[in-house]
Amino acid sequence: MAKSLYIETVGCQMNLLDSELVVATLRHRGYELVDRPKNADVILFNTCSVREHAEEKIYSALGRLKYIKRQNPRKIIGVLGCMAQNHQKNVFKRAPYVDLVVGPGQLHQIPDLLDEVAGGAPQRLEVSLDRKGFARNEIEQSFESYDPLRTPEMRPSPYQAFVRIQIGCDKFCTYCIVPKVRGPEQCRPPEAIFAEVRQLATEGCREITLLGQTVNSYQYQGGTTTTRLSDLLSQLSDIEGIERLKFVTSYPCDMTDDLLQAVGSLRKCSHYLHVPAQSGSDRILKRMKRGYTVEQYREMFSRILHHIPDATITSDFIVGFSGETEADFALTKELVEECRFKNSFIFKYSERPGTKGAIHYADDVSEVVKKERNNELLDIQNTISYEDNQLRVGTQYEVLVEGPSKNAHKEKSSGSLLQLTGRTMWDHIVVFEGDRRLIGQILPVTIYEANAFTLFGEVKTEHVGPEVYQLSS
Ligand code: SAH
Ligand code: SF4
Ligand code: F3S
Repeated sequence: MAKSLYIETVGCQMNLLDSELVVATLRHRGYELVDRPKNADVILFNTCSVREHAEEKIYSALGRLKYIKRQNPRKIIGVLGCMAQNHQKNVFKRAPYVDLVVGPGQLHQIPDLLDEVAGGAPQRLEVSLDRKGFARNEIEQSFESYDPLRTPEMRPSPYQAFVRIQIGCDKFCTYCIVPKVRGPEQCRPPEAIFAEVRQLATEGCREITLLGQTVNSYQYQGGTTTTRLSDLLSQLSDIEGIERLKFVTSYPCDMTDDLLQAVGSLRKCSHYLHVPAQSGSDRILKRMKRGYTVEQYREMFSRILHHIPDATITSDFIVGFSGETEADFALTKELVEECRFKNSFIFKYSERPGTKGAIHYADDVSEVVKKERNNELLDIQNTISYEDNQLRVGTQYEVLVEGPSKNAHKEKSSGSLLQLTGRTMWDHIVVFEGDRRLIGQILPVTIYEANAFTLFGEVKTEHVGPEVYQLSS
């Protein structure tokens, strides 16, 4: 009999990819996905530790399962991913009815672990080594990259895919838990990446997003050959069927000219770059151990525009990091106003136990002030995003159609038309009306309206009838 599986995912694209792969593997083993934990034999949470809020969300979700598990002890509950690596056996302390705790480096063991637990085995904890107290190669081996074969119907969209090119992180920004929970930086061999992308292309995939915490630091030494991200992009560009290449997240110090030249000159490369600045104050950047000054970030920013004049650049900011004064925050606002990012993700500092930040610097900005700064910066960014999007009204973009928009079910459908969503090569979200059969195509869409987050457009059809001319004239 088929077993049913429910999975909930929080966190970054790495986690989305991991969940997709776990689901693909389990479906091959006969599991069926269901959309409510109540109906599932196996309930999995793929977790994030980057902020306390992300962890608390999971503990509350687990809390809600306590009763369900008491009613039905044969249900298997698993906590996977970054929080599993971070909290390890403490997950069992807070939620004793959890059966499995599996770190991001042990995801390949899940099918067997589920079989063991279903067969009556006691609680299982499978995590990687700590980053201290072992040899680097031992630690690396304990964080095994999880890249099993997958099938297109198991992806959220068969036309788009994430491909991992790097795992872990060695930057150790003082606020950040990622190096601890995702382990040492390790780059995947180019051959494995090509094989995966070629396979995805034969299955009809058109857009690839390469993933790494500092993706632009990618470098692989194979014999005497060094492959950089720029080399990888130019080689992946030759794969027929792939139309778009993106990569996230870029680290400001590693934004080299060879990479920017590649992005600027390769037809298939998206001109969208996510390069988090985190703060506009040198004092804070130094405390964060980001490895650059604001002046260096500015220099990098203008170098991007020198090579790719139409680039859209997005950023992340942390407000209320330890010691951040009004003067520091004013500098962050200045940087946002000056760079006019396409978008910024803004986070309130959340102290992460075990990080250098938590050990050396007090979490001394009050929650009220963090919130105020968050809102203030968000307002500035939203105004910029709104103004920039207005400039796009009237422009025609090639849009890769992703699927029905979130509101598609609410919209009155006119005939077979529904509200679709897609993206431009610059990563703008575009919403427009169209037929379901357009999903997966790259179409010209003309923008007629915009807010801070979305462009609204209409598909330019080849055969424009006279009445349409009358309407627009
Ligand atoms: N590797 C990426 C992003 C990692 S986490 C990078 O280096 O940019 C995504 C974002 O979460 C970070 O860019 C940062 O802005 C935010 N973040 C990380 N740790 C945080 C913390 N302790 N509190 C609040 N925000 C945090
Ligand atoms: Fe965290 Fe810094 Fe690594 Fe990004 S570069 S994952 S912020 S330690
Ligand atoms: Fe969170 Fe882990 Fe990603 S901590 S941000 S899910 S790498």
